[in-house]
Amino acid sequence: MISRRDFLKTLGVAAASSVAVPVIGGTRHSFSRWAGASDKIRVALIGCRSMGWYNLTDSLRDKSVECVALCDIDRNILESRAAELQKMTGFRPYIYNDYREVLERQDIDAVIIGTPDHWHCLQMVDACSAGKHVYVEKPIANSIAECDAMVAAARKWGRVVQVGQQQRSGNHWHEMKQYIDSGKLGKISHVNVWANFGYCNITNPAQDSTPPAHVDFDMWLGPAPARTFNEARFHGSWRMFWDYGGGLLTDWGVHLLDMALWGMNVKGMPKRVVATGGNFAFSENRAETFDTMQVAYEFDDYLIHWSNSAIESNRPYGRNYGVEFVGQNGTLVANRESWEVYPANNSVEAIKRLPDGKDHENHVANFYRCVRQQDAATACPIDNGALCAKYAHLGNISARVGESLVFDDERKKFNNKAANELIKPDYRKPWRFPEIK
Ligand SMILES: NC(=O)c1ccc[n+]([C@@H]2O[C@H](COP(=O)([O-])OP(=O)(O)OC[C@H]3O[C@@H](n4cnc5c(N)ncnc54)[C@H](O)[C@@H]3O)[C@@H](O)[C@H]2O)c1
Repeated sequence: MISRRDFLKTLGVAAASSVAVPVIGGTRHSFSRWAGASDKIRVALIGCRSMGWYNLTDSLRDKSVECVALCDIDRNILESRAAELQKMTGFRPYIYNDYREVLERQDIDAVIIGTPDHWHCLQMVDACSAGKHVYVEKPIANSIAECDAMVAAARKWGRVVQVGQQQRSGNHWHEMKQYIDSGKLGKISHVNVWANFGYCNITNPAQDSTPPAHVDFDMWLGPAPARTFNEARFHGSWRMFWDYGGGLLTDWGVHLLDMALWGMNVKGMPKRVVATGGNFAFSENRAETFDTMQVAYEFDDYLIHWSNSAIESNRPYGRNYGVEFVGQNGTLVANRESWEVYPANNSVEAIKRLPDGKDHENHVANFYRCVRQQDAATACPIDNGALCAKYAHLGNISARVGESLVFDDERKKFNNKAANELIKPDYRKPWRFPEIK
């Protein structure tokens, strides 16, 4: 990985450009292994605007967790989150705009990565190599090759990694899984997964402009291709542009495909994937990703099917998102609001179960428990995050090249030249793709 000094040299800026601010009333701790439950776990948050902040605030429910530092490329967000944190905890965190300076700190045990998807791989790999445990948001990466690098990094440096697929810590999802495992549904031939959300429609075109003075846009782009700033493809909306995200399929898809793959005990790639999509729902949609999409993942004796739409209709089952396991004896339908069984015959009973609403809180707590116990078996380890993210990328790649595809996960190749071009991104210099040896 390129060093900060080299990086700054390339950019011709002085190393003094960081914005570290001393902790008020805080003390420095040296890095220690976790020996006992009374020890503090010192964390930093990288990417503070939305989900990263939610992860941090749930982290602070654990009184042994302290936030030492915040990092963001948007100084307004950084300052306002630092002030909020100070109000909540009495301590003002150190603040940074370059995550590599955070990783250099010896007093940080773990980092939360809440940046856009195109940043996850580099930041997670660098964090592991710096000896930090990592809570990384989903989808773990914006490409198949990055998923593999992240799995290799977690193994190489033996770090505890939790992927932000919090449904894995939800009580009603576990009940659902137990029910499926009981075999009561009979042979399952079809798993249907859907998400209909209007936010995949980007209808507010903004003119390209110079970035606001409080934003380090070059550091936001990072390894993604250079381009002029545009506020309609920046905070929040980046997920609908291929260089940074994969649309609804990587955004909601990983959460819901995770439940489909878990339910069916899938550990590897499908036999074949066939997908199609386009921006058909709104003609003025400026997104690159698809507001209307269908993906079929083929297995020996069943199909997993994904669909998404920008039309926010509550369909099917009165739900605008969900997963449906279609068995001979009945159909199980689930989303974050409940899971239900609709009998097809007299061999199963109608069931409806509600969640306790603690998925996220439990998921975050599970991470710190695993850190304390040096236990890599988190509720959503990196291998699982990689599996789901790869499924999402397979669907997007099939739709983008307009072909049905077979992916050989051993040889890291599709049966299609155009699809192979989309496996690994070209990192913009001076960033380098992390090859893990
Ligand atoms: N688990 C969930 O339910 C869930 C929900 C929403 C989002 N997410 C995931 O969380 C991640 C963030 O999504 P979001 O909605 O919070 O995005 P966002 O655009 O609202 O926030 C991203 C933040 O990262 C900052 N950032 C960008 N580049 C950075 C860099 N190099 N260093 C430091 N900070 C940087 C941005 O300035 C911004 O503050 C995504 O991967 C998304 O998929 C997960």
